[in-house]
Amino acid sequence: MNRKVTKAIFPVAGLGTRFLPATKSIPKEIMTLVDRPLIQYAIDEARAAGIKEFIFVTSRGKGALEDYFDHAHELENTLRKAGKDDLLELVRQTNMESGAIAYIRQHKAMGLGHAVWCARRLIHNEPFAVVLTDDVVMGEPPCLQQMIEAHAETGGSMVATMEVPMEKTKSYGVLDVAEDMGAIVRARGMVEKPKENPPSNLAVIGRYILAPTVMENLNKLKQGAGGEIQLTDAIADEIHEGRDVYGLRFRGQRYDCGSKAGFLQATVAFGLARDDLKDEFAEYLHDVMAMRKAAE
Ligand code: G1P
Repeated sequence: MNRKVTKAIFPVAGLGTRFLPATKSIPKEIMTLVDRPLIQYAIDEARAAGIKEFIFVTSRGKGALEDYFDHAHELENTLRKAGKDDLLELVRQTNMESGAIAYIRQHKAMGLGHAVWCARRLIHNEPFAVVLTDDVVMGEPPCLQQMIEAHAETGGSMVATMEVPMEKTKSYGVLDVAEDMGAIVRARGMVEKPKENPPSNLAVIGRYILAPTVMENLNKLKQGAGGEIQLTDAIADEIHEGRDVYGLRFRGQRYDCGSKAGFLQATVAFGLARDDLKDEFAEYLHDVMAMRKAAE
């Protein structure tokens, strides 16, 4: 039997320059999608998938992110006294068990692979998840849960994947497919942000379940695309060493909240998915589009 995946690494050290000036004072991970910070979506998805230990790889200036997970006793008391039980419940849902979160500092921005490697002492001989908070996935069951279920069957390492237009492959890790089994593909290679000749149009998105040997591969601290230490390369090394790497075509929609356009799209999608907002919001969107059309 494959070992249960109970630990997830959240690399949250990035500067978020694409969202300046907002990210001058707030970490991008606590930017708000409808009414919850991005990190909350990632945590909720991981919890739903059975993750018990949450490892954040942070950097300078991320204090607000760490504080977000403190229990807000004063706020909870005020809400309780005021009888605002629904809000109290909402706040409580964000509480994390003591000791469930670990913070590790990445002292230098040396790439995603390096960020994951910074957490190596907290990962023992067990498979672990990596969740990139920029990628918000709307899906049922949530994307990481789909992966954990699939991984229980396949073992090895697994990445979430989706088809993108060929010309977009240069922004992603891309799979070279050995065997296409439908929802699951087995990879014979993986390339980070191919400048030319992408091996397929199957892009990797920010959800991974990795064998502990990936950490060993990262120990080499080999520079890859953009001069950075790439997680993609450490996963590709698994294949070169004869271990299996799979891609899961997850069911759901991924939003790139690392880009402004993606964030806006996510805001629309998550706004429209909310019972308390969808009617008013849909009507507004409809009116805006009608006005734009009329002005053309
Ligand atoms: C990272 C990974 C890349 C992956 C992408 C998904 O790139 O390096 O392989 O396809 O996330 O969002 P980034 O977008 O952080 O440059």
